[in-house]
Amino acid sequence: MKEKIKSFIRENKYLEILAYILQNNQLLNSSGDGTFSKDIDSVYNYAIGVANKFILQYNGDLSNKTILEIGTGYTKSTMLYMIKECNLKKVYCYDRFNCLHDEDEELIKKFGLDIYLDKLEYISGTNDELLKSIDINSIDYIVSNAVLEHVDNLPLLFSILTKLLNDNGMSYHGVDLKCHNRFKKYGELYFHTFSDKLWKMMGDKIGQPNRKLINDYLSIFKNENLECIMELKYFNKDEIERAKTYLKINDSSIEKYNVSGAQFKLCKK
Ligand SMILES: C[S@@+](CC[C@H](N)C(=O)[O-])C[C@H]1O[C@@H](n2cnc3c(N)ncnc32)[C@H](O)[C@@H]1O
Repeated sequence: MKEKIKSFIRENKYLEILAYILQNNQLLNSSGDGTFSKDIDSVYNYAIGVANKFILQYNGDLSNKTILEIGTGYTKSTMLYMIKECNLKKVYCYDRFNCLHDEDEELIKKFGLDIYLDKLEYISGTNDELLKSIDINSIDYIVSNAVLEHVDNLPLLFSILTKLLNDNGMSYHGVDLKCHNRFKKYGELYFHTFSDKLWKMMGDKIGQPNRKLINDYLSIFKNENLECIMELKYFNKDEIERAKTYLKINDSSIEKYNVSGAQFKLCKK
């Protein structure tokens, strides 16, 4: 039923705009609401997939290391699984909005991860909460998956993360620059056609995509004096041709929109 209503709303651009404005003002279902996609087992499998990606991307041995996860989302199990697999010293799970699911505790118990909870500290609130809860220079590895594209003030978050990361530490961030289903019917880049004012009205309180482009990320890393190794994915040619029409721009200006996803590995210079 919920899916049917969503697809009905997405059929009409103005209805979709109105729905996001209502959602942003909590007059419609709030962000983070909903049921665990499918079932507990598939959520756990997803969490393991993300954890294994974080493990694979780290250069070195994670045992006895301290990790900070940004944007934990529905479940702590990703990081509990990492504590178990890598014998981590401590994990901080941070989210701007607490969207831990009611069934998360059940999931954690079901997969025997509750014995690792004493090594995990959950922090929620505005970005400055991080500095109140975590010592400067104390983090070995900062990770996030599908989060940075939702962060409203990326320069602020990165100024804090740089303080928390120790000099030999590294970060890994996976970022999706596509539209997250917003106005997808019209094209993957159509969400860039709205003015900043209207875009804010449609989701500044619920962590909607921030519409930052690859160069915005790179200039933040540069400002923070971070070295960056990245892997990029690109939109296909048809998508870009379509976008040129609705964004009303030419071949040279479209280049900055070409990237559809990025993986960043960062360390201090
Ligand atoms: C798409 S979810 C990703 C959740 C999880 N990392 C995953 O892979 O499933 C995006 C998450 O980013 C969080 N978020 C949004 N704005 C944030 C901010 N400014 N700082 C930290 N987290 C934020 C949201 O609350 C949400 O949990």
